Amino acid sequence: MDHNTEAVSKVTVPWILERKLRGEKIACLTAYDYPTARLVDEAGIELILVGDSLGQVVLGYNSTLPVTVEEILHHLRAVRRATRRALLIADLPYGAYHVSDEKALEVAIRYVKEGGAEGVKIEGGRKRAALIRRMVGAEIPVMAHVGLTPQSLHAMGGYKVQGKTLESATELLADAEALEEAGAFAIVLEGLPRELAAIVTRRLRIPTIGIGAGPDCDGQILVFHDLAGLSFLPRAKFVRPYADTASNLRQALAHFREDILGGLFPGESESYHWPASLGEQFEQSRAANHRPSGDEEPDPVSF
Ligand code: KIV
Repeated sequence: MDHNTEAVSKVTVPWILERKLRGEKIACLTAYDYPTARLVDEAGIELILVGDSLGQVVLGYNSTLPVTVEEILHHLRAVRRATRRALLIADLPYGAYHVSDEKALEVAIRYVKEGGAEGVKIEGGRKRAALIRRMVGAEIPVMAHVGLTPQSLHAMGGYKVQGKTLESATELLADAEALEEAGAFAIVLEGLPRELAAIVTRRLRIPTIGIGAGPDCDGQILVFHDLAGLSFLPRAKFVRPYADTASNLRQALAHFREDILGGLFPGESESYHWPASLGEQFEQSRAANHRPSGDEEPDPVSF
């Protein structure tokens, strides 16, 4: 048993911060709907992110860029209804924080009021520091996100591991420090060399949550559908599928169809029944109402 799964009834931002002080890891996952969020929460995962990966793994877009605030909110509400213990964080999608800090703050406030989010996640380095300060000033906890930030797909020239040169590694560390300074309560490190993620983790007081950043981060996050083996995207090196849900479902679907075609579904135990006497009553009533042949009205429509 994870030591703290039982010890805490509700995961909070201060609890996440303490976890780093105690040297205990933090397990995080994305979720986008009621049934999977329930399973994630009941498994004791500490933090649930309604990420904009929603766009690719659930909505079938080919990147996270088209995801809208309304789409995140719709899924956030479903996840909120399922989540009792985990800390619930929602992503600001591309475009939600690029026009003005005011607009971004409005979105974050909607997430809290209408979606029940307990914090937001924002991609980007130190250029987000002022926005993060505004959010924290409005009592909204922020999880920062640096490294391979999928919303910068075009600027990065593809999904590429970041921080592989001395210059970019130095920049990344400066970004992470500035975001901590701005008040972020945690920071996602995505697509980084393990060595750099370890340095950032040692240098920061706030927890680092890795995805493709090696095992030395304070916590780890995966996309639910990657973990469950239910994604149609090419599998990234850092993904470990813990289940083969797609194969299980494929087998179940093929079996279901075979049973229908073979007349095996539904069976007796899956059928409802009349009370014993009703069949007889039904036949008697039909016989009583049946007019002798010859008296029948002609069918108004004949073929
Ligand atoms: O949208 C998302 O799922 C994310 C995680 C991968 C960190 O940003």
